[in-house]
Amino acid sequence: MRLATAALLLGLVAVLTGDENKNDLCAHRALSDEDAVLCQGLEVFYPELGSVGCMIVPDCNDYRQKITSWTEPIVKFPQAVDGATYVLVMVDPDAPSRAEPRQRFWRHWLVADIKGADLKKGKIQGQELSAYQPPSPPAHSGFHRYQFFVYLQEGKVISLLPKENKTRGSWKMDRFLNRFRLGEPEASSQFMTQNYQDSSTLQAPRGGASEPKHKRKRG
Ligand SMILES: *[C@@H]1O[C@H](CO)[C@@H](O)[C@H](O)[C@H]1NC(C)=O
Repeated sequence: MRLATAALLLGLVAVLTGDENKNDLCAHRALSDEDAVLCQGLEVFYPELGSVGCMIVPDCNDYRQKITSWTEPIVKFPQAVDGATYVLVMVDPDAPSRAEPRQRFWRHWLVADIKGADLKKGKIQGQELSAYQPPSPPAHSGFHRYQFFVYLQEGKVISLLPKENKTRGSWKMDRFLNRFRLGEPEASSQFMTQNYQDSSTLQAPRGGASEPKHKRKRG
């Protein structure tokens, strides 16, 4: 009886102080089944937040704002083969929005010559063809996917064309992959986030449900 009353009071306090709400915002939210198909053997961590593979960046602790200035995440492929070399690609297919991805793909990071032994441990060291650029989805553009792919390089010399190097947006990733016959990825993952000013909607994000018009060009 006493216990039950105490529990009730505690619950009431939690509701009144907004603790419940805060916990909801911080709760782990997995991607939809459709978006989860990309989660194949690759682990992605931002040290302050932890693993983001296959999840939506939570709308608490300013994570959605902080992620726009954090340095590159740890990307780990435990099944990487010692002695092999790999290419890592990070792209946003939803630039400027998932509804109208006119600038697909936005190239956030491109590293070649990564040694299997390093990739296994999450140490991304190699030839950085595009320096890491943090996710910075424009306001009112909905949730963006940030996708990571790892390809077996097999001794090829990987480079960007000068035209590709000039800009990150509208990258013809398929052409790049074909040019070096990189084929299917060995592993992949993705996470989602949206502009931190658009936050606090608890409904599940959907592709195509966002406002398409805005001027900023970053992904
Ligand atoms: C262009 O190439 C340089 C040197 O490899 C690289 O640091 C830079 O990030 C590249 N720029 C883009 C937009 O990919």
